[in-house]
Amino acid sequence: MPQIHFILKDGSTRAVEATAGHSVMETAIRANVRGIDAECGGSCACATCHVYVDDAFFDRLDPPDEEEAEMLDEVAVDREPNSRLSCQIVVTAELDGLTVRVPQRQA
Ligand code: FES
Repeated sequence: MPQIHFILKDGSTRAVEATAGHSVMETAIRANVRGIDAECGGSCACATCHVYVDDAFFDRLDPPDEEEAEMLDEVAVDREPNSRLSCQIVVTAELDGLTVRVPQRQA
């Protein structure tokens, strides 16, 4: 089972077992990871599932589609080159160890 590592607002890291085919957002919500709100439930309409993807993994992700790219302009804190919406990142076995940092706020 792939593991996703979430770097929380206080700098600590939580490792969560994920299911391939689920999104990183779903993984976080199921495990009660703090700092990912996901108000729209994963339909790419709220930008409250924003995360910063670790550089080691960023290029291994499919690039954001047009809808996600536009929604990334709506994030509550600074959009960085490695910003992604976690509801749009699908977990695969190859992403085992994926590390994402939760922003200081989502709204
Ligand atoms: S959960 Fe709303 S955009 Fe990702």
